[in-house]
Amino acid sequence: MKRIPFLILSLIISAIQLSGQNQKMNTFIDGLMNKMTLQEKIGQLNQVAPGGWVVTGAVISNNVEEKIVTGKVGSILNSLNPEVTRHAQELAITKSPNKIPILFGLDIIHGYKTIFPIPLAASCSWDLDLIEKSAQIAASEASATGINWTFSPMVDISRDPRWGRVSEGAGEDPWWGSQVAAAWVKGYQGTNLSDERSILACVKHFGIYGAPEGGRDYNTVDMSRLSMYQNYLPPYKAAIDAGVGSVMTSFNVVDGIPSTGNRWLLTDVLRDQWKFNGFVVTDYCSNNEMSTHGLGNLKTVSALALNAGTDMDMVGEGFLTTLEQSLADGTITENQINQACRRILEAKYKLGLFDDPYRYINPERMKKETFTTENRETAKKLAQRSIVLLKNEDQVLPLKKSGTIALIGPLIDSKNDMLGSWVVAGDRENVSTLKQGLTDTGGSSVQIITAKGSEFTDDPYLINSARNPWEKPAPEDPFKKTPEDLLKEAVAVAEKADVIIAAVGESVAWSGEAASRSDITIPQCQQKLLKALKATGKPVVVVIFSGRPMVLSWENENFNTLVEAWQLGSEGGKALADVLFGDYNPSGKLTMSFPRSVGQIPVYYNYLNTGRPMNPNNRFSSKYLDIPNDPLFPFGYGLSYSTFSYSPVELSNPEPSGNEKITASVTIKNTGKYAGEEVAELYISDPVATISRPLKELMGFKKIMLQPGESKKVTFEISAEELKYFHSNLEYTWDPGEFIISIGTNSSNVQSTKIFWNE
Ligand code: NOJ
Repeated sequence: MKRIPFLILSLIISAIQLSGQNQKMNTFIDGLMNKMTLQEKIGQLNQVAPGGWVVTGAVISNNVEEKIVTGKVGSILNSLNPEVTRHAQELAITKSPNKIPILFGLDIIHGYKTIFPIPLAASCSWDLDLIEKSAQIAASEASATGINWTFSPMVDISRDPRWGRVSEGAGEDPWWGSQVAAAWVKGYQGTNLSDERSILACVKHFGIYGAPEGGRDYNTVDMSRLSMYQNYLPPYKAAIDAGVGSVMTSFNVVDGIPSTGNRWLLTDVLRDQWKFNGFVVTDYCSNNEMSTHGLGNLKTVSALALNAGTDMDMVGEGFLTTLEQSLADGTITENQINQACRRILEAKYKLGLFDDPYRYINPERMKKETFTTENRETAKKLAQRSIVLLKNEDQVLPLKKSGTIALIGPLIDSKNDMLGSWVVAGDRENVSTLKQGLTDTGGSSVQIITAKGSEFTDDPYLINSARNPWEKPAPEDPFKKTPEDLLKEAVAVAEKADVIIAAVGESVAWSGEAASRSDITIPQCQQKLLKALKATGKPVVVVIFSGRPMVLSWENENFNTLVEAWQLGSEGGKALADVLFGDYNPSGKLTMSFPRSVGQIPVYYNYLNTGRPMNPNNRFSSKYLDIPNDPLFPFGYGLSYSTFSYSPVELSNPEPSGNEKITASVTIKNTGKYAGEEVAELYISDPVATISRPLKELMGFKKIMLQPGESKKVTFEISAEELKYFHSNLEYTWDPGEFIISIGTNSSNVQSTKIFWNE
């Protein structure tokens, strides 16, 4: 008898085990659902928000306790206090008709207590293991307080940095976005959802929320199916393939229908094509908002949502208050309610909540395992790797640990602004700011002198509009310095230093949800400060803190040292100090293009060639009269203190056929003085195809460490799989013929070679 290979055997065994577990789960849920009334089933589809920190929409639920005991609550949003969580769970378990445990959901977007860099920054680390680990830590810390469900990862591809929510995603590229999506899901959910340290993930915002017109949050999205499939849907699918347990709908329309009521999206694509078998939750009141979109009253839109494939209603209570009547009217079926209820019960079952509804509430573990030195060390590592060195022309960096450093700007010592948006439960006190980091890391031979230099902005409209509704306006400071005094003081401090670090950029409230901006340059008062610092003649290192790519053309023209510091989380200051002093050689690379001006947006690397590609000598080519077409800093770009050279690309076979696998290699040499990591990026182009194809598309990467003078060969395996794309009929296949294989240090600096792939 032929021996069955071990891998196949273990796959068969785990498939049998899984089907056994599923059978057990199905029998349990059948039994439970047989006892549930229709109202109780509808109750499971209801998520309430008893109030508290995060209120991003219209409704706050009332009479929550009564709703729990009468079986009208399937899930609670934003329960931050473990005692309240325990109390709510106790009510459900002891007093509700069928004692069904509650699912507790919270936005843990980049850490729970230990805050990691914002996701956009983390994606610039090109370190999937570390990203996964950060999600694991977030899940472990949050779960000890009773949270068993996070609304993450946010995987919306975006080509528009005006949209404030780019801070929550992984940038502009579908391939990279897919890798990051899978890493987040694996980190949160682990290998076994019922492990007390893992929680249910929720991929959002399905779908295509990242392309709102004008970059304005919640705005209309209108795009071709081809672009959806090719550019925007892959990361959601990657999360599904990684086993994500839930999906959140988005606020926008897709083909004119809000996603919450879009059957094509939620059933045809999600369930039929992608085989998703978890449950779908609305975004905050997005069911209710379908009325404002113009689709009818609450009863009509709630029926629409259920029919489309939505299972749980976040906060809006449209399901709770109208589905019974809709069933009586015949606009929905009992089967649909049963199906939605079953999906939610399955998630609770998989989380182990029916075995032990309190398993996630563990104050002992919370004390021992939260915000630990080890967790903070991981946060620091990820923060170091997220920083992107944009320019270092005079090699002012790394700084020496001696002499006097003037640290100037509105962001030198701000804990809150270091953390980024969606820090619901994060430790806001123990945050390493730039000042703290430089002082600790620099040691006693460095003197750090500081000045604020300017406010974030002098524009009262921006200050007011950026304030969150739950924030009280800060009381007027009677000793507040005038802009002139701040500037004067900063120049006086700068004059005393050997080198100046200017910490400028965005306030934390300027990115994230509902934080779109039309002008993404550094505000005028901060530029005025930069000008004054430049006039001192001292070397200036400009460190930019932002939740998005900013327009840095003016800074690039005027300064030779630029560092993108994003919002780096709890350990941000230490990480930055390590980079500035050279204890860590920067290796981050941009996952979103930095435009030269807002007028260039959308700007992204994987664009289609036009019939008249940009030609500076031809007036009638596709270009602007005032600026070049290319971004200021392209996708994949980022410098190191070292330099790396790339050899030409070598192919194992320049004329492969069919399903053959080939390799493409380059030799990379560290030609600089420092040991450092380099991210080698693989791009593929399809210059002759059935439809117009992007100029190039990312298809792989390798991050390698090289000592000074050291060379390493980097090899990528390529098969016809990497050549596939969505054709006009949405068929995912490839066309034989010519391709270009490129490997390089960023999307616009590559070594390329042609290949002919036969049928
Ligand atoms: C609205 C946001 O769009 C979504 O990302 C978040 O998860 C929910 N509110 C819940 O807080």
